Amino acid sequence: MKSISCITAALLVEGALAATSGKFSILSMNVAGLPAILNQNDVPGDKTTNALSIGTKFAQYGFDVIHAQEDFNYHASIYQTDNHPFRTATSGGVPLGSGLNTLANLDWVDFKRIKWATCSDASSSDCLTPKGFTFMRLVISGSTDNTTTVYADVYNLHADAGTESADNVARQANINQVAEYIATWSKGNAVLVFGDTNSRYSRTADTAIRSLLANGLRDPWVDLQRGGVVPSVETLCANPSSNNTCETVDKVFFRSSPLATLQADAFRYASSLFLQADGNILSDHNPVNVNFTWSSGSSLRQSKFWGGPHGNWFSDATTLASISKPKPATLTFRGGSRLDNVGVTLKDGTALTHGGTGGTAVSLTLGTSEYWVEAQLCQGQKDGWTRVFYIRAATSSGRTVSSGTATVDCMSFSAPSGWQIVGFLGQAGDEVDQLAFVYAPK
Ligand SMILES: *[C@@H]1O[C@H](CO)[C@@H](O)[C@H](O)[C@H]1NC(C)=O
Ligand SMILES: *[C@@H]1O[C@H](CO)[C@@H](O)[C@H](O)[C@H]1NC(C)=O
Ligand SMILES: *[C@@H]1O[C@H](CO)[C@@H](O)[C@H](O)[C@H]1NC(C)=O
Repeated sequence: MKSISCITAALLVEGALAATSGKFSILSMNVAGLPAILNQNDVPGDKTTNALSIGTKFAQYGFDVIHAQEDFNYHASIYQTDNHPFRTATSGGVPLGSGLNTLANLDWVDFKRIKWATCSDASSSDCLTPKGFTFMRLVISGSTDNTTTVYADVYNLHADAGTESADNVARQANINQVAEYIATWSKGNAVLVFGDTNSRYSRTADTAIRSLLANGLRDPWVDLQRGGVVPSVETLCANPSSNNTCETVDKVFFRSSPLATLQADAFRYASSLFLQADGNILSDHNPVNVNFTWSSGSSLRQSKFWGGPHGNWFSDATTLASISKPKPATLTFRGGSRLDNVGVTLKDGTALTHGGTGGTAVSLTLGTSEYWVEAQLCQGQKDGWTRVFYIRAATSSGRTVSSGTATVDCMSFSAPSGWQIVGFLGQAGDEVDQLAFVYAPK
């Protein structure tokens, strides 16, 4: 059974209440889609026929999130036979595109393609195409009323190939570029990174993937197949791979957040699932499958986002996670034609504020047993960008405070029963561009 059925069933049974845990599967596969004239990838057979077959197998096995790399000139054939409901639009064949695409049973917001700052043609033609990585906030689960949503920031990548010294330099720069992006844009969030790193722990020059592990990401292959020990001795995989302990360059990394816990349950090379009818391989890379269990935070959760993905990312999740029983004492908003700034001051004095200094300030001081339990946000367009125009907060005593200018495009949020709104996450500059609420138990 495909996992999407389980997700749908859970929502139907629970109505507006969000599921608080579940499972999902991922697959990372370099689909060897360079034009045959440039590179046959050591794969027998016709590339169009093989691409149709890869798409058929994507549909058949129904992995929840698939990352394809080298999805260049046979992309249309993969999408022709695949049936995942959410798929990225191709960025083009060689030499226009990055070859990175996502096929998923789960929706996302805020998709971006980012090009590597560094490439090397020392061996193979890495500068021929604008390779890089992609970013999306994947919606793992959400209540039908949008009050609570579980997200993970999901990255696909294809790093520089080769082992000449300029390749090694470019590849470490690539992986470090993703790490820096995560540090800025995924602060406070659960993260999944999976793709073709072109890196091996067992190659001493590949230092960057080891620093991912040192900086809080986990590799399910290391944890589940190598007993938690990062290998220093090379064991190359055959293709199809006969075991799960050999090392390939296609890798999976992940971390949890205070808002969502991820746990890797199983890792395998899914090579035997992706063979031609005569037993030949469909790609020169072994596809990687990891299955995860997710659960929403026990002391912090979040709402759906409203507004647009402009301005800089901010999140109160990490700060709030370090405070025992956070409770807003004062709400302060600034607004005018749009919403300039949102803020709460917690009862321990911690101030959480985001946005600019324009507009007029309004505030509401809450009683000791009064909680912020409901909010409404309205969005609109300014200079072609979707931004947050309006906020209205309501407390458990029925008092309200609002700021900005209401539009016709609004969303209402109520804290889950027994919970309250305690802070924010989203994107802002001079004004508030995108906003979601952080909830904590009362
Ligand atoms: C939840 O959000 C989506 C848009 O993202 C909207 O279509 C839907 O109507 C919302 N649900 C409710 C109950 O407001
Ligand atoms: C896994 O397969 C590789 C490639 O055939 C081989 O070198 C390695 O010894 C195998 N490992 C185990 C534990 O069988
Ligand atoms: C992941 O889950 C799928 C569907 O239940 C299953 O077929 C597959 O074997 C699992 N993968 C691993 C690595 O256990």
